[in-house]
Amino acid sequence: MISVKTKFKNYNIIIKKGELKNAKEYFNLNRKVLIVTDSGVPEKYSKTILDQCKQGLILTIPQGEESKNIDNYILILKTLTTNNFTRKDCIVAVGGGVVGDISGFSAASYMRGIDFYNVPTTFLSMVDSSIGGKTAIDFCGYKNIVGAFWQPSAVLIDTEVLSTLPKRQIICGMVESIKMSLTHNEELFNIFLNNEQFKEEKTEEIICKSLLIKKAVVEKDEFENGERKVLNFGHTIAHAIESAESFNELYHGECVAIGMIPMCGEEVKPKLLKVLEHLNLLNNISINKSQLKEAVKHDKKAYGNKISIVKVNKIGTYEIEETDIKNIENLLEEAF
Ligand SMILES: NC(=O)c1ccc[n+]([C@@H]2O[C@H](COP(=O)([O-])OP(=O)(O)OC[C@H]3O[C@@H](n4cnc5c(N)ncnc54)[C@H](O)[C@@H]3O)[C@@H](O)[C@H]2O)c1
Repeated sequence: MISVKTKFKNYNIIIKKGELKNAKEYFNLNRKVLIVTDSGVPEKYSKTILDQCKQGLILTIPQGEESKNIDNYILILKTLTTNNFTRKDCIVAVGGGVVGDISGFSAASYMRGIDFYNVPTTFLSMVDSSIGGKTAIDFCGYKNIVGAFWQPSAVLIDTEVLSTLPKRQIICGMVESIKMSLTHNEELFNIFLNNEQFKEEKTEEIICKSLLIKKAVVEKDEFENGERKVLNFGHTIAHAIESAESFNELYHGECVAIGMIPMCGEEVKPKLLKVLEHLNLLNNISINKSQLKEAVKHDKKAYGNKISIVKVNKIGTYEIEETDIKNIENLLEEAF
């Protein structure tokens, strides 16, 4: 168990395989409970929570990033209102980052804030999005543009649920762990470096070590005024790639993997490439340098000319630099 301490709330993260059936030991389900999930998450997970509720209700939104929208936000609020949820009732999110983000934002705003529990079911949400209190929906074509800081009341991570998650999703989630290991923890990075094949028995260790990094960063800078920017390592280029048409088949984790490469110093880069090779991450991706540069140029609109980037010259350490967007193009030129 990991305890997170923030200004408004202290909460526990429970990491235990097969523990979903005992959620009521960690969550107060003795009240009205709205369980939010999506159509891609196997139903048995939300039903396991429902079975432990006295007055539970499941709301399933369609799977995919497009669902993190204002219509589904309204749907969640309507469901809470028409079912007479009070300030003492709660929401349980059962799903990946999409379900977690929209449920968290609904909980933050309904009656100025009700309890919200997170049951992350993707690797990414287990190591990253389920803790830290950032909640949001996408709006007017911008990702996460409307949201709030609202911490969960508890997070339950049952790694058993990863058995149904497609391998590509697992690997993409691992990229967020690799990202955190590069900036904060060489021992964690070495798990990826020294294991050519991913060993399932390492899952819990990777999740725990990643969460300890995220916890430390969030506790220092809950509202992202400084230090928390380090979690954006690799994300500047990733966001540019994600917003470019020519790369729209790539998953977020794959874009972050590409985005970290130019931000690593000479000593670190070959090691990162080795890890990405172990995970077969870049094998089916052709990196077209001029398309990448175009994407960054195009994304300039979102950032302006100056941007802060995170660089890693030694594993386990980092520097945050304010730089001109032109320098990112140069870094891309050198990296690929
Ligand atoms: N709040 C934060 O701090 C934070 C941090 C990082 C990312 N995010 C957000 O997280 C989102 C991405 O999250 P994600 O990668 O978890 O994607 P996701 O929530 O879209 O889930 C990916 C897919 O996996 C399916 N799925 C989920 N669990 C499953 C399971 N156990 N078995 C089978 N299928 C399953 C889902 O239905 C979905 O189709 C983005 O919207 C991003 O902005 C938020």
